Amino acid sequence: MQSTRNKLIELLAANKDTYISGQVMSDQLNISRSAIWKHMKELKKDGYQIEGKSNKGYRILKFPDKLSENTIQWGLNSNWIGKTIIHKQTTPSTQIIAHQAAQEGAAHGTVIIADEQTQGKGRMNREWHSTKNKGIWISIILRPAILPYLAPQLTLLAATVLADVLNTHAGLRPLIKWPNDILLNGKKTAGILTEMQAEQDQIQYVVIGIGLNVNHEKADLPEDIRSKATSLKIETNNTLAIKEIIQSILLTFEDTYDTYIQGGFPKIKKKWEGYGFKVGEEIAIKTLRKRWKATFIGIAEDGALVTKAEDEEPKKLYSAEIEW
Ligand code: BTN
Repeated sequence: MQSTRNKLIELLAANKDTYISGQVMSDQLNISRSAIWKHMKELKKDGYQIEGKSNKGYRILKFPDKLSENTIQWGLNSNWIGKTIIHKQTTPSTQIIAHQAAQEGAAHGTVIIADEQTQGKGRMNREWHSTKNKGIWISIILRPAILPYLAPQLTLLAATVLADVLNTHAGLRPLIKWPNDILLNGKKTAGILTEMQAEQDQIQYVVIGIGLNVNHEKADLPEDIRSKATSLKIETNNTLAIKEIIQSILLTFEDTYDTYIQGGFPKIKKKWEGYGFKVGEEIAIKTLRKRWKATFIGIAEDGALVTKAEDEEPKKLYSAEIEW
């Protein structure tokens, strides 16, 4: 059940360009005018900027910076992404919540966000450190009408979204290390974990998990990854507004996904290769069993890494790591 406070915030948010009178609020929420007044006082204490004008009513001017369904949705002018947002202060992993929600029928574009994850999941069963309020830990549920074997394209798409956002939002020059690590000055600042539920020829849903280190100081990064990991703050010397970056990621994601659904993968592939780490160069490749050198030719339609070793035909790799 939604609390009266949340209903009040929603009502104010839905009427952001006009004043809404105390009487209308009291009628719609079925509570007294004095109860409305008390809620307003509490909201202001929590950082909501609300303007009250006699004879006109109330108008919300600014949401607080802390994350909630409402604060993220405020000013997010999207068509389908983030229409439902599930926000948790702390959770083992937003991926787990996303799978549960998707199995219960959550709509395409539903977003799960946490301030902190206690068991964040990375690729290859690795742990993903998700320090409280320092980064962006989100999962997006998608229901794409594409064949399951093309799902890796969505991971590559998500990587271009992050690279675009870091470029336009923070003026940075990110590179994407295949398939989906976002590097800044040679260190990893973000990763993407794509998980899917599908039958042989049909996707039920895909969950795109995005982890982005934003306001970490060096000391916030676990010691064992400190030499290879970074954050936007470490790279820019600035504390960045997490909520605005989330909104930017969601809007850019929606736009890029729509382009992909309408026009297919070629534009995404081109953009990915534009950001690609060591495209056209010699790379060291590592799999569970071996390590070798080859030239990184580019990415294939199905998201594979295309490489060419000396005196060999080009080869497609689906599961490997580029050393850096
Ligand atoms: C990787 O580079 O290994 C992928 C990291 C993905 C981390 C994100 S954080 C939000 C979502 N929830 C998780 O538990 N993992 C993904």
